Amino acid sequence: MDGPAAAGKGTLARALAERLALPYLDTGLLYRAVARRVLDAGHDPAAPAEDHAHRIVPQDLQRQDLRTPEVDQAASLVARQPAVRAALLGRQRDFGQALGAVVDGRDIGTVVFPDADMKFFITASTEARAQRRYRQRFGRDCRNAEQLEAETWQIAARDAQDSERANAPLRAAEDALLVETDRLDAGAVLELVCQALHRKG
Ligand code: C5P
Repeated sequence: MDGPAAAGKGTLARALAERLALPYLDTGLLYRAVARRVLDAGHDPAAPAEDHAHRIVPQDLQRQDLRTPEVDQAASLVARQPAVRAALLGRQRDFGQALGAVVDGRDIGTVVFPDADMKFFITASTEARAQRRYRQRFGRDCRNAEQLEAETWQIAARDAQDSERANAPLRAAEDALLVETDRLDAGAVLELVCQALHRKG
């Protein structure tokens, strides 16, 4: 499962994995954990981060501070580096190949598992995604136009960075099923994806 930030792919992938009794891997967490290490070391996320990528251990993925706006942007910067991507590729493949898995990220259908049984590209408009991220961060009842605008700006900047990089850019695999989630809630998206899997057999 691939798609831009806050399109709902994490929620979907987790629910699908549960339904199929398969392990779930959120590959964004790997890039976030590298970014966290880089920031903790006081380094610039745009500087070479390969060493940090090699040092990732499972406990790094359990940290509570991986989803801050600072880590969002730093993860996208370390993810541009081919050496970081190469360092994380084997871990992702080992995870998926053992038992099969539901895996989400940006390049899963194009680079990590080009032969996946089924590929989905989960997307939504920038506005819908910014609204979702804003509600996750500040709660349903928050009405802060400035904060919502900041969220929209951050999502658009990360989309641009993830889509325009030379190495493994965010894009739908040719054989991916495109799912637009603007007007669908999480349950409806899960049903749609399950029906597609069922049709495939
Ligand atoms: O999915 P999530 O928003 O947690 O990912 C954080 C960042 O990690 C993304 O903005 C992207 O730059 C990078 N990423 C990636 N390839 C993946 C997963 C995430 O480049 N497979």
